[in-house]
Amino acid sequence: MSTVIDPDITRARTLPSSFYTDQGKFLDLKRSFRKSWHFAGHQSQLAGCTAISLDHVEGLTGQPMLMTAGVETRCISNVCTHRGMLVSEGKCHKKTLQCPYHGRTFGLDGNFRAMPEFEQVEEFPSKDDDLPIFPTTVWKGLVFTGIEPSGLESCLEEMENRIGWLPIESFQSDPSRHRSYEIEANWALYVDNYLEGFHIPFVHKGLNESLDYDNYRTILFDGGVLQVGIASGDETAFDIPNQSPDFGLRVAAYYYWIFPGLMLNFYPWGLSVNLVVPLSVDRTRIVYQGYVGDESMLGKGAGADLDKVEEEDQEVVEATHRGVSSDSYERGRYSPTKETGVHHFHRMLTS
Ligand code: FES
Ligand SMILES: [Fe+2]
Repeated sequence: MSTVIDPDITRARTLPSSFYTDQGKFLDLKRSFRKSWHFAGHQSQLAGCTAISLDHVEGLTGQPMLMTAGVETRCISNVCTHRGMLVSEGKCHKKTLQCPYHGRTFGLDGNFRAMPEFEQVEEFPSKDDDLPIFPTTVWKGLVFTGIEPSGLESCLEEMENRIGWLPIESFQSDPSRHRSYEIEANWALYVDNYLEGFHIPFVHKGLNESLDYDNYRTILFDGGVLQVGIASGDETAFDIPNQSPDFGLRVAAYYYWIFPGLMLNFYPWGLSVNLVVPLSVDRTRIVYQGYVGDESMLGKGAGADLDKVEEEDQEVVEATHRGVSSDSYERGRYSPTKETGVHHFHRMLTS
């Protein structure tokens, strides 16, 4: 339970600025990410290859990892059990993983296979020579992993219930939509900004025309926040089946955020993922990935010009970082109608 942020949003004051600027607080929070689930990727990324390195997961947890193909999709350590070299970077296409340093080989399940010049070594190989396997959960093609993770159930339940009808498992990774940027701001400011549609009419004039601002809705759940963007006029919307709780609504976008820094943005064309990777207290990498479900819907509605929206967001987030770093700012207040998502995040962050 948070004692820093009042549970009553009408009384609450926002996150103290030290949470965005203090090195000690930053390191404590980052250490706590060991306990969270993180997005590893989508199974379609393994089409035509056997393993892919998960650099963003390393940024979030400190553990170099590989996502490997097979009967089961696994997330395994990418650190060679000989002298610690990274086993594979980028994509691997072989059925056996081979460390490029001295040639040790492993199966895609992480099991030790062979090592030259080790015939005389006693009690070798042992279990310690295998690459450790990390907890892995797959939901509709989306792969999640972590170090000692817990708490994804409520998020998956919310998504299953609302958007389980979407054929997410058949979406295809589109590398032309994958990119990453570094911004000069604390990671939590990027999350704050994501969690409210309050700024849309002010910051995103183009996007604002696609969305019905008055009907924008925010739904809180254990471990995350969902924002539902309703299409304005005859703008592009999902064709929602009647088993969905949103049947009858003209939804332009589902914006899911899962603690700490995973954003799953579902549009009629497919899924855009933002991964927030804190680099230091005042630098953050934002990784974007795109998974296309229906090409004919690309370029339409709220999900049309994401690069422009992103640029507009980054500008305000960087400027806000300068503001909260100054002596003239300590903390503010929340809008009870528009900032429930930010309040929910701040409660989680300070619990
Ligand atoms: S570090 Fe991998 S084989 Fe030596
Ligand atoms: Fe925005």
